[in-house]
Amino acid sequence: MPQEGGTQDGARPTQAGSFAAGFENLEQEVSVDRLAVEGTFPEWLSGTLLRTAPCNCDLGRQTVCHWFDGLAMLHKFRFAAGQISYANRFLHSDAFVGAEKTGGVTMRSFATDPCGTLFQRVLSKFTAKWTDNCNVNVITLADQTMALTETRLPVVFDPETLQTLGHYKILPDVKGDITVAHPHYDSERNCLYSYLLQLGMKSCYRLFSIDRHSGAQRVVAELRTDRPAYMHSFGMSRRHLVLVEFPLVVNPLSFIFRFQPFIRNYRWRPERGLRFHVFEKEGGRRVKTVEAEAAFSFHHVNAYEREDELVVDFVAHPDAAIIDQLDLAPLRAGKPINPGGRPVRYRIPLGASATVRVESLSDTRLELPRFNYAQVAGKSYRIFWGAGTHRPGNFIDSIVKVDVERGQTLTWWEEDAYPGEPVFVPQPDAAGEDAGVLLSVVLDARRNRSFLLVLDAADLAEIARAECPHPIPFGFHGNYFAAGD
Ligand code: CO
Repeated sequence: MPQEGGTQDGARPTQAGSFAAGFENLEQEVSVDRLAVEGTFPEWLSGTLLRTAPCNCDLGRQTVCHWFDGLAMLHKFRFAAGQISYANRFLHSDAFVGAEKTGGVTMRSFATDPCGTLFQRVLSKFTAKWTDNCNVNVITLADQTMALTETRLPVVFDPETLQTLGHYKILPDVKGDITVAHPHYDSERNCLYSYLLQLGMKSCYRLFSIDRHSGAQRVVAELRTDRPAYMHSFGMSRRHLVLVEFPLVVNPLSFIFRFQPFIRNYRWRPERGLRFHVFEKEGGRRVKTVEAEAAFSFHHVNAYEREDELVVDFVAHPDAAIIDQLDLAPLRAGKPINPGGRPVRYRIPLGASATVRVESLSDTRLELPRFNYAQVAGKSYRIFWGAGTHRPGNFIDSIVKVDVERGQTLTWWEEDAYPGEPVFVPQPDAAGEDAGVLLSVVLDARRNRSFLLVLDAADLAEIARAECPHPIPFGFHGNYFAAGD
């Protein structure tokens, strides 16, 4: 793909060791049978880590405005017999194909206008489709592997070759434009839960389920709203689904009358506070709507019922300023940032009371939380991990383990190293909530090279690292799929 401006060979002047290196393009697609490894992988580690990430922000004629708009690339790390292979490939979405043809953005994106003249940009508000640039998460569903973003156009790909196969259709007969890239799996009901937001004069959140094996889809519940909130994830306990409306909201008409990219239509309205809407999975009844003081979040951690209350944990930011902090230009310049996310617990009464109790789970700044999903999703739990900010003003530069009962944390960090989301892989047949390993793609900014780090999830001791053939730009999420599952 042609490019202007940014390069991956270090032509942009940045301070050595700066996190800015994680926002350069990655053009190179490779397939390497065996990476060099320091240490020894556990013998039981047999499976594949699949990730998607924004990997190309310079499209030729146009550079995207925000990190979230970089073109998606898939990354595959496969573990077998103590060895590890690696491959990466661009996701050939419609957004990617459009960028190849025009050198710019051709679809309605998170924070970047489609390119062209003013007239073309205005026209695009009415004609361009929401993007299918699935750079946020990877899941499997009904024997298919797919990359997700926050529109209803997941892109299916071959987990072996990483070849793009086409769109997956969510509730084809049900209206809705926006969704989340963080669906929940319910292992007891064998289904996935998510929601669609239908934008319009009468906007509506529509919670739905998809059978994990057959792919059968149904609407679980609906909730009208006049000012839809931006929600990047939602909560799930054993019996309930929880939509938390953060006060970053949009007047749906602004999508028609204001010529702004998607997120620029939203406004921070702290006077609205937080609104927790609790729905029963069985029957879809809304059992509760309660309010709390304003906060913003991308990521829920876990949620569970406890006696007569619902515990809802998420990484809370004081406001939505973090979104603007992730504009591409200051990130590429390595300007200090102030990520304020801290894990917080909200205790929602399931009885008559409307009083929400709020507790801090840790003072550690972190994001991208993961936990032992197979064992404790929707249930009482004790441990989660996240990517933390160890050094003030820095981008994510550490891996953190949080014990939510004791409020204790452990931290892994290394000079000039920038880890991504720590993906927990449980050790088969081990009972402990933290028995297993964490997998994280780490950028060594000083050497301008990435490595796949394997930590003991219990004490964050390094077990092994595998050297990647290039620097991998920072990404969001991925999942590990055990061989034979
Ligand atoms: Co996310």
